Amino acid sequence: MVDTRLSRRAALMGAGAVAAWASSPARALLMQADATIRMGVVPAPVDALIARMTLEEKAGQLTLNAAAWGGGVATALNPPSTGPSFEGQVADAVAGKLTGVFNGNGAVMAERMQRAVMQGSRLKIPLIFAADVIHGHRTIFPVPVAEAASFDPDLAMRTARVAASEAAGAGIDWTFFPMVDIARDQRWGRTMEGAGEDVRLGELFAAARVRGFQGRDLKADDAMMACIKHFAAYGAAESGLDYNVVDLSERTLREVYLPPYKAGFDAGAMSAMASFNEIAGIPATGNPWLMKTVLRDEWRFPGIVVSDYTGDEEMIAAGFAEDGRDAARIAFMAGVDMSMQSNLYMLHLPGLVREGLVPQATLDASVRRVLAVKHMLGLFDDPFRRIDVKREKARSRTRANLALSREAARRSIVLLKNDGGLLPLPTSGKRIALIGPFASGQHDLNGPWVVYGDNANAVDLATGIRGALKDQNALTVVAGCDVEKPIPGGIEAAVAAARAADIVLLAIGENEGMSGEAQSRTEIVVPAPQQALAEAVAATGKPVVIVLKNGRALALTGVVRDAPAILVTWFLGSESGNATADILFGTASPSGRLPMSFPFESGQEPYHYDHKATGRPAQALSDTYKAKYRTALNAALYPFGHGLTYGTIGYSALSLPPTMAWNGVIEIAATVTNTGARTAEETVQLYIRDRVATITRPVREMKAFRKVRLAPGAGETVRFTLKRSDLEFIGVDMKPTVEAGEFDVWIAPSAQAEGVTGRFVLAAG
Ligand code: NOJ
Repeated sequence: MVDTRLSRRAALMGAGAVAAWASSPARALLMQADATIRMGVVPAPVDALIARMTLEEKAGQLTLNAAAWGGGVATALNPPSTGPSFEGQVADAVAGKLTGVFNGNGAVMAERMQRAVMQGSRLKIPLIFAADVIHGHRTIFPVPVAEAASFDPDLAMRTARVAASEAAGAGIDWTFFPMVDIARDQRWGRTMEGAGEDVRLGELFAAARVRGFQGRDLKADDAMMACIKHFAAYGAAESGLDYNVVDLSERTLREVYLPPYKAGFDAGAMSAMASFNEIAGIPATGNPWLMKTVLRDEWRFPGIVVSDYTGDEEMIAAGFAEDGRDAARIAFMAGVDMSMQSNLYMLHLPGLVREGLVPQATLDASVRRVLAVKHMLGLFDDPFRRIDVKREKARSRTRANLALSREAARRSIVLLKNDGGLLPLPTSGKRIALIGPFASGQHDLNGPWVVYGDNANAVDLATGIRGALKDQNALTVVAGCDVEKPIPGGIEAAVAAARAADIVLLAIGENEGMSGEAQSRTEIVVPAPQQALAEAVAATGKPVVIVLKNGRALALTGVVRDAPAILVTWFLGSESGNATADILFGTASPSGRLPMSFPFESGQEPYHYDHKATGRPAQALSDTYKAKYRTALNAALYPFGHGLTYGTIGYSALSLPPTMAWNGVIEIAATVTNTGARTAEETVQLYIRDRVATITRPVREMKAFRKVRLAPGAGETVRFTLKRSDLEFIGVDMKPTVEAGEFDVWIAPSAQAEGVTGRFVLAAG
């Protein structure tokens, strides 16, 4: 039953508005019955409400714009908005021309808008407030690809839960997250927003993030609607160029790109965002095969589809629509329910319906879905349920939230290399020179995709290290150069600091502006001035630990590649410096694994570990007439899944039955032993290769992984069970297929490591 009582808070909040709502036609209709909507079951009263709406009010429910008030950060993150003033926007909302706004300015703004609509609009349909809550709201967690390095979907669920509770406390009902685009080309800047290159990891993180944001009950005041984006295959942009076209076989689309979206919808996500790209000549925003055949018919998706920011209008520049009216018709008829930011639906849908170019029933179906999700979010029960200034403050950056941020950051760091056990460092007795543009200062800590967090509130590296050191005087901090340009005397100062130290920590890499939306790079390298700094500092002969800052995989060269120790520290959020210090000084052993491969050279991109063998696979660089580059194998310097811990882990004793029955399962196990002196967390990965099939198969595919915590000297038998469906691929007929025959198996610490390996046969059915 729907609880029809008004909360005390709502009553205090806007007594007049709530009273207006209580007597509104919308509420009266919706409260007539048990209006609980479950997965696509829309209550009859919604239809009664739709029957009362004008065409303009219907188009308004399908129109979402960037908030006009205080959206400075939001506007900076998207092309400049040409929207009205805040007062103008409120007037539009009251006139029924808006379903809601996004990237607004907290509970005060939301309360003003919602109150105006509840008091002044004809039907009093509550507004929905959306935002890009990507990896935290005020407490910032590691960027999504970094968090994927934890290989711990449960951690992602926990951080999403906290992000939802903070953001929902600020009046936000709907997040534009998770972004689940598979990223096989590291030139693409938006690699940073997803879970990397692997299908299985992508599926698990998509589902976990949806569960975290949506919680158990979408009506709860700490739950938000999740949005699976960008549908579909945005990550396959040609040449890694953002917004560029995608041209993929349906097989690769279905086998590689679609599964994480599907996993997100299966986890209950109630919204999807159409992607900017076209696929084989048809923009996603105007693609009925994607939005209807796949999403609605095959996957039975009951929620709403929103365009990306002016995605419908952009079909004009792409040469797919003649003008705004044409673009609105194409997008809407393709199955995009709601238009973001262009206003094209508001401007043209009523006319298109009057002229018979858009069926009234199709319009009603989209409005029904939008009202249904508003109802699921509890907005018809209480339009102010998430709007609470006090709660907004009380939930933000709590001690527990910051502790989770530190834990997540620590577990996102990947140790690529640690020759001679250089790390961890002692907290006393050694002089440390911390050098580089990311050594200190309140910048480049949170990452490029943060609307509400502030770098000024995050802990930088120097502060984190000082907090860990027993003797503060043991640390010298020198910038050495800027991110993309030298500074006068910088290298000299850095070299002097290195000479006076026992160990150098070199904090170099990319700044926030070098990854994220519209930040594609042609060369995924450490910028030249920083490379020059590294070369000069390494020439002192002092041991160098590279502390990389990055939003994508990088191609490491020269002394950066050859340094004895390399840590990947991404953009880690609020607790960046503390978490990095935890790893540097061994408070925790590193446990992160690469969610995407680090190539030898930029020119290998797009590179992914699950590539095909080709007819001429190369074994060595000296091979001739084989599939390799003159200077690099078709392999990675640091592959997907790679990551060290302090100490060593051994793999032994593969247990693998020779045969899997057609209707059976196969249990595969190996022993993993910690031969080091510290407790370690090992991510044990299971890969397969289908040796011969009617469609060629990748050289390896990760099918499962397990994280095990091992005390020094301890061993554990790690077991995996594979089902026949784990061996499926998209067959000649474009349907999931399994073929009997031989499969190679590896239980290994990375996509290129041997670990322990064997072979089994799937018996014919
Ligand atoms: C454009 C981005 O592609 C999308 O991810 C984001 O959610 C919207 N802008 C809204 O800010």
